[in-house]
Amino acid sequence: MGQGFPPVRKAVFPVAGMGTRFLPATKVMPKEMLPINDRPLIQYVYEEAREAGIEEFIFVTGRHKEMLEEHFDHQPELESVLQARGKDSMLDKVRDSEMPAGRLFLTRQPKALGLGHAVWCAARLVGAEPFAVLLPDDIVHAPEQGCLAQMMEVYRARGGNVVAARDVPLEDTSKYGIVDHAAEDGPVVEVRGLVEKPAPAAAPSRLSVIGRYILQPEVFAQLEAQEAGAGGEIQLTDAMARLIGAQPFSALRFAGRHFDCGGRLGFIAANLAFGLADPGLAPQLRGVLDGLSA
Ligand code: G1P
Repeated sequence: MGQGFPPVRKAVFPVAGMGTRFLPATKVMPKEMLPINDRPLIQYVYEEAREAGIEEFIFVTGRHKEMLEEHFDHQPELESVLQARGKDSMLDKVRDSEMPAGRLFLTRQPKALGLGHAVWCAARLVGAEPFAVLLPDDIVHAPEQGCLAQMMEVYRARGGNVVAARDVPLEDTSKYGIVDHAAEDGPVVEVRGLVEKPAPAAAPSRLSVIGRYILQPEVFAQLEAQEAGAGGEIQLTDAMARLIGAQPFSALRFAGRHFDCGGRLGFIAANLAFGLADPGLAPQLRGVLDGLSA
């Protein structure tokens, strides 16, 4: 112990977004509370961060998002009802969705100025140490090891900044941050540049960043000074791009399946995948799917 790079103890969860793509479902309910199988999106990213060793969970929240903090709170009435009814496995699930005291931190993003601005809103809570960012829109099904835990291994070996990445069809480059990378050397590649949502003709590669980042605190100074980029928003991608060269920067082609749950297709696909991976549900769900496709 005592050697190597400083540990990543804190994770930032930008959860201020409005979720317009799911209206009217998200008129009153935060999009991060939409369920995949038996858990809301936000719980998947919380569990992934917890598995990776994260100790402090920082929500960058906004108006009408109180349900998110409620979800992770202790619910004594519910627990006593489940206990009285002998519903032990349900009780275990409820307890597992509770955050231990002193681990949840909240800050607000008063205006929707972009992902970079949302992350910057957590600067004072993060301080001068490396941190993770997890976007609840991006759900990764990785039964053996969560995506952030895989990234932590890269961080422990190389230090600096690490993003999770996957290859997308060329026509999809305009939906993601795209990596300009050096020669392929297996799942980990050295990042040479990053471009936010380039048109296919301008894309340096097909390697897209998904919403998992391990970042050095120097990114906050970049965000602080930054002007709006693609889409008129303050982009995290632009701030990260300015760290390349000054700090190690790696992209990991993680093991697992990614679902873009910011839209209905990815969300429905995620529900099917997690349902089929649930032994209590899979046989009947297969029957339903067979029936629908007959
Ligand atoms: C954000 C980032 C983008 C990244 C994507 C992953 O975009 O700006 O670089 O590829 O998340 O989901 P958004 O989906 O918020 O438009």
